[in-house]
Amino acid sequence: MKNSILKINLVVVAVVALSGYSLRLSAQQLRADNIDEVLSAMTLEEKCHLVLGCGMHFNDEAKFPGTAGSTFSIARLGIPETYCADSQQGLRMQDHRNWDHRDYYPTDFVASMTLASTWDREAAFKVGQGIGNEVREFGLDWILSPSMNLIRNALCGRNHEYYSEDPYLSGTIAAGYVRGVQSEGTAACPKHFIANNQETNRNSNISQMSQRALREIYLKAFEIAVKEGEPWTIMTSYNKLNGPYTLQNRDLLTTIVRDEWGWKGMYVSDWNAGDNAVAAMQAGNDMLQPGNDKQYQAILEAAKSGELSMDVLNANVKRILEYIVKTHNFKGYQYSNEPDLKAHAQVVREVGADGIVLLSNNGILPLTGKRVALFGCTSYDWISGGSGFGGTTVGHYTVSLVEGLRSAGYEVYKPLISTYLKHIADEEKRLFPNGRPAFSLMPPARAEEKSFTAEEMAAAIDGSDVAIISLGRKSGEAADRNATDFYLKEGEKALIKQVSEAYHAKGKKVVVLLDICSPIDVASWQSQIDALVCTWQGGQESGFSVADVLSGKVNPSGKLPMTFQINYGDAYADKNFPGEVDDKTLGAMFMWGYNKDQAQKERKPQANIDFTNYEEDIYVGYRYFDSFGKPVAYPFGYGLSYTTFGYSDAAVKVEGDTYTVSVKVTNKGDRAGRNVVELFVAAPNSKKLNKPAKELRNYAKTRLLQPGESEVVTMQLKTRDMASFNEKASAWKTDAGRYDFLICSSASDVEAKVSANVKAWTQKVHNVLQPNVKLNLLKR
Ligand code: BGC
Repeated sequence: MKNSILKINLVVVAVVALSGYSLRLSAQQLRADNIDEVLSAMTLEEKCHLVLGCGMHFNDEAKFPGTAGSTFSIARLGIPETYCADSQQGLRMQDHRNWDHRDYYPTDFVASMTLASTWDREAAFKVGQGIGNEVREFGLDWILSPSMNLIRNALCGRNHEYYSEDPYLSGTIAAGYVRGVQSEGTAACPKHFIANNQETNRNSNISQMSQRALREIYLKAFEIAVKEGEPWTIMTSYNKLNGPYTLQNRDLLTTIVRDEWGWKGMYVSDWNAGDNAVAAMQAGNDMLQPGNDKQYQAILEAAKSGELSMDVLNANVKRILEYIVKTHNFKGYQYSNEPDLKAHAQVVREVGADGIVLLSNNGILPLTGKRVALFGCTSYDWISGGSGFGGTTVGHYTVSLVEGLRSAGYEVYKPLISTYLKHIADEEKRLFPNGRPAFSLMPPARAEEKSFTAEEMAAAIDGSDVAIISLGRKSGEAADRNATDFYLKEGEKALIKQVSEAYHAKGKKVVVLLDICSPIDVASWQSQIDALVCTWQGGQESGFSVADVLSGKVNPSGKLPMTFQINYGDAYADKNFPGEVDDKTLGAMFMWGYNKDQAQKERKPQANIDFTNYEEDIYVGYRYFDSFGKPVAYPFGYGLSYTTFGYSDAAVKVEGDTYTVSVKVTNKGDRAGRNVVELFVAAPNSKKLNKPAKELRNYAKTRLLQPGESEVVTMQLKTRDMASFNEKASAWKTDAGRYDFLICSSASDVEAKVSANVKAWTQKVHNVLQPNVKLNLLKR
């Protein structure tokens, strides 16, 4: 009897053990339609792993060396590893793999402000699509872009990665880019959410602002990108906002974005951001990258102790699984490693040219003379984008200005080529006695300008019909630029003076190209020259794009996405922005790996380093200059063409809460061209209501219009698009009244005006994210 009971027991134990084993073996394999079941089959440990990244993929062992990271794989549940990489100017990865015979050179697309200068949602789509395609064809899943922080100050280190000072332009360009990326089945990731408007002390600085500025300016850009682009992921930022770290702030991530905007995607942290993994999970920041053991232990323990509820953790994991089932690697996509790089190069060339802004032209452009003399080190050391993770892929080619102009049929004055190449090589030795670093977040120093003897100058004038001087500025990550970078250096000023005087004395003209990452001073010297072209930074085909515009093959149609102020300090926001930061402070706050708490303790909180008060409030960029009548060098939205455009038949049609503004644009000149039409809205009593004098609410770009040809463009907006945020009521409010719809060619040039009665509209939202200090806000 005893024996038989023992036998039965053994059988039972064996059956139970075996069924457990086979259950494990036949565990659910992830599919798009069984996410909940897989979630319930996951162990707590697996969940804690999945919410963390797997380190950075910088070494040779990685599948895609030089990329930003990946997600955790759980083979038994059919959850594959998925791969992400930076960034907005193209897929960043190491060009060579030590175990592989070939090179990997994804396309170096245009820098962000170049893209924004096109004012063309289609161009943004095409660039996004090209990048999304390369991510897919090179085997990855997820691009960590677009970067889209608002340009609040001309000296922010990452301005080259950002679009504009205006939330509508930023949001719509970002949305176009996101749609392009995701049309290839690749995940996009608008970043850095939010108010990461300076690089100085970016891992600890607190951005302090009113709820109104936050809602109307900083959140607005992301809200548009989220609603129009529907990104699968969003990256939170390094900084804190009105108190907590952005990634640890549930009101921000969940209450506003998920509950109010209805966004369903997955948040990822910026790399090594924040200081509390559990708080990030609770806030709804689903994934922490690149992830570390400390975070794993903290999340595991908090989940075991109940401090982190399983509901919250499950929601985080579920959103990660929802992202994973959409990826190429989950779907087993057989990538080619052979995207159509030629087609993408063509996109870069075209978009690069469309993003060039013609600022002044005293009859010299397009160039008719075929002999050009190139001055300025940048003419021979062209900058295609910024440095840091948002910059160009290391080792990639950039079509130089010389190459671009020669291929357009220009004869480039030869003696200057050798003179400058030697000078740049000497400067390189002086600046980098131990060799240039292979990678640097911050921009490496650039050669100082050289001067010329009277004989050298006379020979150059003899050998050329026109002088072109290029000025360059490069920005990068983890540091802002300082005001000396806004102004020209002594060598640059001297060069402009010497070349202009000498050429003008011989009846020849001078063109200046600005190969820059952000506005610089032009007001103090531009009267000396004959044409000023802001080329921005146009990626790998820059030399061709610039030559296309200089030659007239492409008629410039770019418009400034940010104001060119006269002096640094003119913008109200300049009051509250880091200037020179001493080395000790810099050392203490340098990004990863330093002991933040220790660094904080060692010094008293310093304005603009430990906290930044956004006292300009909503008056960022043109909203300030325009509303307060302050003069600028070039206004937001400005840009010339080689032709002129007329505006007629402006009208506004009101149907319910929709306003359709239309205007007929006619090409009045003798060259084909495209034109951007900017729609600003001016509210009645704007001063009394403390609203900006006018705000950009829509824009359109015509097709290529032949001389004499017209196109009627239409632009729509809703009553709610004209709302301001009312803090007292915690509500968006459009006041009733007669509104002016201003059809503009820049923030300072109104071409036509129509008006309509607008009914009151209001929408209550959550009263969250108040600043925790009293701010001295600018009012009209
Ligand atoms: C940058 C992000 C980037 C990440 C991963 C961070 O330092 O701020 O923009 O995506 O690194 O490389």
